Amino acid sequence: DEAILEAEFQARIDADEKIEPKDWMPERYRRQLVRMMSQHAHSEIVGMLPEGNWITRAPTLRRKMALLAKVQDEAGHGLYLYSATETLGVDRYQLIRDLLEGRAKYSNIFNYPTLTWADVGVIGWFVDGAAIVNQTMLAKSSYGPYARAMIRICKEEAFHKRQGYEICVTLARGTPEQRRMLQDAINRWWWPTLMMFGPPDDQSPNSAELLRWKVKRKTNDELRQHFINITVPQVLALGMAIPDPELRYDEKTGNWLIGPIDWDEFWRVIRGHGPCNRERLQARRKAHEEGAWVREAVQAYARKRQQQAAS
Ligand code: ACO
Repeated sequence: DEAILEAEFQARIDADEKIEPKDWMPERYRRQLVRMMSQHAHSEIVGMLPEGNWITRAPTLRRKMALLAKVQDEAGHGLYLYSATETLGVDRYQLIRDLLEGRAKYSNIFNYPTLTWADVGVIGWFVDGAAIVNQTMLAKSSYGPYARAMIRICKEEAFHKRQGYEICVTLARGTPEQRRMLQDAINRWWWPTLMMFGPPDDQSPNSAELLRWKVKRKTNDELRQHFINITVPQVLALGMAIPDPELRYDEKTGNWLIGPIDWDEFWRVIRGHGPCNRERLQARRKAHEEGAWVREAVQAYARKRQQQAAS
C-alpha cells in the first residue's frame, strides 16, 4: 500500500538513486517538482525580457552578438525545462496559460528594469552567477530529467556569467562616468539578487520536504551565503563597493556577513507588485499572441508529415 511505497521511495532517495518519469513517486513529490520546475521554466522565458531590451542598443557588434546568443540560450533553457516538466504528466500549454493569466510565479529578479548598459553586465555577473550557484546543486537533484537538464544549462550559464563580468571589467577600467554607471547598477541589483535564493530558511515552507527528497541539496540561506562569499571579492577586485554598510568579513567562519535583507520588498515583488511585473506579463502575452501563427504552422507541418508517413 501507499505507506510501503513511500518508504521504498524514500529508501531510493536516501541511496542517492535518481527517480525517473515512469517510477512510482508520491503525488506530493510530483506536484512539488511541477511547481518548482515550471516556475524555473517561466523564469528563463521572462528572463529574456530585461536583457532583450538592450539588444538593439549594445555598444558594439561583438557585444550585440554575445547578448543575442545569451538571450537565445535563455529561451532554450525555458523550452528545455518545459519539456522536463512535461515528463511529470503536465501539459506545457497549461503551464504557459497559468503564466500569462498571472497565476504562476517566476523569479523576483526579472521584475526590475534595465536602465543602463551596465545593467546587462551586472545581470550576467550577479544574476547568472546566482543561477549557477543554485543550479549546480540542482544538477544533483533526485529527479533525473531535472538534474540532467541542469548540467547543460549550467555550462551555458557559466558563459553568460563571463560575458557579464567582462562587460563590468571593461566599464571598471573606463571613464569616471562608466565607473559611476557600473556602481549604480551594482547598487540596484545586489539586494534583489540575494533575494533570488528565496526567503530565509525559517520562512521557507517548501524547504524541509524538498531537502528530505533531495530535490534541494542545500538550503536557501546556505546557497545565498555561498554566492555572497564568491561575489564580494569579485566586486572589491574591480574597485567597486557593495551597497551594504554592515558588510563585514568574519574570520572565524570565513563568511562575508551582510546587513538585513528587505523581505517586504521580496514578498511585494513576487506577489505581482514589483516595478515591472505588469510590463513583463504584457510583453509575454503580446509575444504569445503574435506567435500564434508559428504554432499553427508547426502543427500543420507535423500533421502533413504524419499523413505522408502513413500513406
Ligand atoms: N522568486 C520568486 N518566487 C520565489 C523566489 C524567487 N526568487 N524564491 C522563493 N519564491 C517563492 C516560492 O516559489 C514559494 O512560493 P509557492 O509556494 O507559491 O510556489 C515561496 O516563495 C516560498 O519559498 P520556498 O519555500 O523557499 O520555495 P522553494 O523551496 O521552492 O525555494 C527556490 C525557492 C530556491 C527559488 C527554488 O524553488 C529553486 O531552486 N528553484 C529552481 C531555480 C529557479 O527557479 N531559478 C530561476 C531563476 S534563475 C534564472 O532563470 C536565470
